[in-house]
Amino acid sequence: MNHFLDIHTTDKAALRGMIDNARQMKEARAGQPKATPDQDHPLKNRMVALIFEKPSTRTRVSFDLGVRQMGGQTMVLSGKEMQLGHGETIADTARVLSRYVDLIMIRTFEEATLQEMAEYASVPVINGLTNRTHPCQIMADVLTYEEHRGPIAGRKVVWSGDGNNVCASLIHGAGQFGFDFTFTGPQTLDPEREALEFARAQGVQAVIERDPAKAVEGADLVVTDTWVSMHDPQSARERRHNQLRGYQVNEALMAHAKPDALFMHCLPAHRDDEVTSAVMDGPNSVIFDEAENRLHAQKAVMRWCLGL
Ligand code: CP
Repeated sequence: MNHFLDIHTTDKAALRGMIDNARQMKEARAGQPKATPDQDHPLKNRMVALIFEKPSTRTRVSFDLGVRQMGGQTMVLSGKEMQLGHGETIADTARVLSRYVDLIMIRTFEEATLQEMAEYASVPVINGLTNRTHPCQIMADVLTYEEHRGPIAGRKVVWSGDGNNVCASLIHGAGQFGFDFTFTGPQTLDPEREALEFARAQGVQAVIERDPAKAVEGADLVVTDTWVSMHDPQSARERRHNQLRGYQVNEALMAHAKPDALFMHCLPAHRDDEVTSAVMDGPNSVIFDEAENRLHAQKAVMRWCLGL
């Protein structure tokens, strides 16, 4: 049984295997209607619980569709409507759900909740986002980059903005997939030091450059995300905007990257805040491929978790 809790705690070869498997599965069903089942029905007779303690569009729909394409069934559960939201412990919830379902995906707040779920569940647990990380997103991002530009190893990836949970997983991805990483943003919103140290320990560059134009110089991929994450207080909005305005990804900033540099955003985006519509809708943007690839990448993650 394999849990998929984070990029940096998952074996490198397993991560590469999942990306390759995702690509094969995507190619095998190209052009077919969305609900057409995959030929081998790997999740036939399997039940998957999808627990959401935070809002979601992509994670909810892509996991649900992915399970259906693989021949399984889903239960989409809102944390607030479960006893979990009314005092039942995470450990008891994990033990009970393990009697009903074959796989649990959870989107939650604290990383400790995810860890406890994995500790007490007797079925695999997948991290569908915590305040600290978002590993499924990075699997989709690697798949997307490689579809467009070939191997990501050795490339320069730049994150501009808030060093949030998606950023932390991207830094873990740098270490595991072998690309160099540069963060540009204000010091108060730096990504966590442990993630940078992890990447460096794997032999890649993981650096901070305060000047966004310098940071983006020679970039193969530029990435950003919303300036206020789901777990951040809305009261922080104005301060965040003031701090981050200089790190907006716009055409002037992209002009410092390589001419064929891709632009990614995990979405949802706040158009013309962290990124301009011109960049989002421009020729180098792959944001909707990235969103689609959540589906294919997570199907591979689920198969790996279940050893299928
Ligand atoms: N990128 C992402 O996780 O999107 P959702 O919040 O819509 O699931």
